[in-house]
Amino acid sequence: MAKEYDVAVIPGDGTGPEVVAEGLKVINAAAKASGFNIRYTHYDLGGERYKKTGEILPDSVLNELRQFKAIFLGAIGHPDVKPGVLEKGILLRTRFELDQYINLRPVKLYEGVETPLKDKGPRDIDFVVVRENTEGLYAGAGGSLKKGTKDEVAVQESINTRKGVERCLRYAFEYTKRRNKGNKLTLCGKTNVLTYAFDLWERTFYELASEYSGIETDYAHVDATCMWMVKNPEWFDVIVTDNMFGDIITDLGAMIQGGMGVACGGNINPEGVSMFEPIGGSAPKYTGKNVINPLAAILAGAMLLDCLGEEKAAKMIEKAAQKAIKQDLKSLNAGHMGMGTNEVGDLIARYVTES
Ligand code: IPM
Ligand code: MN
Repeated sequence: MAKEYDVAVIPGDGTGPEVVAEGLKVINAAAKASGFNIRYTHYDLGGERYKKTGEILPDSVLNELRQFKAIFLGAIGHPDVKPGVLEKGILLRTRFELDQYINLRPVKLYEGVETPLKDKGPRDIDFVVVRENTEGLYAGAGGSLKKGTKDEVAVQESINTRKGVERCLRYAFEYTKRRNKGNKLTLCGKTNVLTYAFDLWERTFYELASEYSGIETDYAHVDATCMWMVKNPEWFDVIVTDNMFGDIITDLGAMIQGGMGVACGGNINPEGVSMFEPIGGSAPKYTGKNVINPLAAILAGAMLLDCLGEEKAAKMIEKAAQKAIKQDLKSLNAGHMGMGTNEVGDLIARYVTES
């Protein structure tokens, strides 16, 4: 009997449902060509459900999500809902509760895509950011005093645990080894100022390094990392960093790889349930117009299949997407692709089938 996987789908808000539809189209084509099946269960989490029922992420749904092999997410964020409510209530809560302690974000410039970096090409821009995904400033530690008065005090603390730091670094070393490209891992931190948090990161980094003799280690402060990402992106193979710095440098990464249209990521629990998403957000102004670029969702689908252990199917999708980018798409920007959202999905699904 053919292999079967159970996957949860959260199309979410704005353009999320449109790009998820194309992502599923392509995943299904790859599954068919590779001889396995995926059973999907859709969840209507997001702004509309919240507005109708007041529910953000019911515990019952969260517990159901624990049962799947993986989760495919579109986008979270609604113009009528105060910023933070859905992001924290759905996206961050899922990351924390399912202990998705890695946020894996490839920064890869595909052939035929324009980068704002002068004189840099696909050979120069091809690295991966391993972002810690459950701690740091995102842990929600802190509080405020005398709120709304002139004496107001606000404290937001960065939580870094030995366990959290070590498992993230270990994943990054293992990932660098498996990737086997530059065999170089760069720790991105701020050891000159954040002398408690990044002392822990740095010590643990060099401790683990002694177990990975085949991997070259390097260190860069986060501000310098931003500079090198623009000036010499070819220096990077894998970058590992904390939650906040990872959030910031991966938006920079998305821009040098051609924009939000191609940027995708995985929220990974290597021992549990992982969640894959395009990182571009819900893009309300493009919603329902069939103009948004579904590539990021399609590539997130490839990451999802890779996580299921279907590496060949994942590669098929990436190759098909690369072909469409090189031959067919006029631009990666919404509204300028030279075809509609659904046509991009149809085309890449066809390339998968023909491959
Ligand atoms: C991301 C997003 C989220 C984050 C927001 C929406 C909470 O920016 O996935 O990078 O900060 O992690
Ligand atoms: Mn972000």
